[in-house]
Amino acid sequence: MSYKTLSDFDFQGKTVFVRADLNVPAKDGVITDMTRIDRFVPTLKEIAEKGGKVVVASHFGRPKGEKKPEFSMAFLKPALENASGLHVKFVDDCIGEARDEAINAMENGDVILLENLRFYAGEEKNDKEFAESLASGIDIYINDAFSTAHRAHASTEGMAHLLPRGAGRLMQEELEALDKALGNPERPAVALVGGSKVSTKLDLLNNLVKKVDKLVISGGMAHTFLAAKGIPMGAGSLVEEGMIDTAKSIMENAGDCKIVLPVDLTWADEFGEGQEAHVSDADKVPAGKVLMDIGPKSAEEFIGVIEKCNTMIWNGPVGAFEIKPFDTQTNAIARAVARLTSEGKLTSVAGGGDTVSALKKAGVEPDLTYVSAAGGAFLEWMEGKSLPGVAILEK
Ligand code: 3PG
Repeated sequence: MSYKTLSDFDFQGKTVFVRADLNVPAKDGVITDMTRIDRFVPTLKEIAEKGGKVVVASHFGRPKGEKKPEFSMAFLKPALENASGLHVKFVDDCIGEARDEAINAMENGDVILLENLRFYAGEEKNDKEFAESLASGIDIYINDAFSTAHRAHASTEGMAHLLPRGAGRLMQEELEALDKALGNPERPAVALVGGSKVSTKLDLLNNLVKKVDKLVISGGMAHTFLAAKGIPMGAGSLVEEGMIDTAKSIMENAGDCKIVLPVDLTWADEFGEGQEAHVSDADKVPAGKVLMDIGPKSAEEFIGVIEKCNTMIWNGPVGAFEIKPFDTQTNAIARAVARLTSEGKLTSVAGGGDTVSALKKAGVEPDLTYVSAAGGAFLEWMEGKSLPGVAILEK
């Protein structure tokens, strides 16, 4: 991978457009998770401290090309100020006269935050004219939003063609971590994939069998693989009948990659909180029961596989981790991964919304080598797809 980073530019006196991902989880105007803002702060501060005039832009939610007040980004200004210790001026448009004037009035080290990019349809359409308006008055383009790099939008791709371009520190950190995990891993490398559906992770599984030495398939999607091996899965499983042949062909074409499946499963009478947990071997779950988690023998076996590897990439919890006690095996694996990482025996990289929540819930998120702030972009990258927002930086 070759792209410019913040170290390659002289920002003094330059107007720098920084595409951040400030699409943070929020409820009634209150931010519920500061991760994306906190991780963006080093880039913001570095450019401002180096004398750049920083123009921060992002989308928030999906207003679909219309100026909808509930999607205004004004509420992010104090959060950005608190997190960075910098004064931030909010400008209530991302293109146009008022924004151009605000940019012209900037001094070195100033920061402005623009209004939601998706208030214009041209953003998602990657419209050339809109990209030109975004780029007007700008000297340098920095993309610090790996988590939107799977979108070929005007601010993530189109305008980058028009300016000297580079990656912010968060983008750089994500790309380096992901390269260590899958691009160029220290072998043996294992991928742990969970989640409920094979159908949503088909490209990912097909890519992973080519990249890793061991592929642990868990969560609800493992039920389809167990069924493909002829193990009867009841009505309370998450088997996708239409995917059984696909699961068979993934296993048949795995080549040197060893596929590992659960050997026991945790089930309950009904889906939900407060249900009693029972464990059976995968082929002995009584009829009509709801599968909620893998069993302890499987977790032990998975941990054994991970212990023999130097690199691990993780996407998807192994059970219904939101509902106690069905978070038990996800937690056990998370703790083992954290321990092995802390002992210097494992490079561990995880990503995806549910996976990050599960790691946070297990209290081990800071102990992994890297936890990606991206959702969809992380998945597409794991699928081996070229991300337009990254590809343009490499040109
Ligand atoms: C995300 O939250 O994954 C990114 O901000 C991308 O958002 P989008 O799916 O609305 O493009």
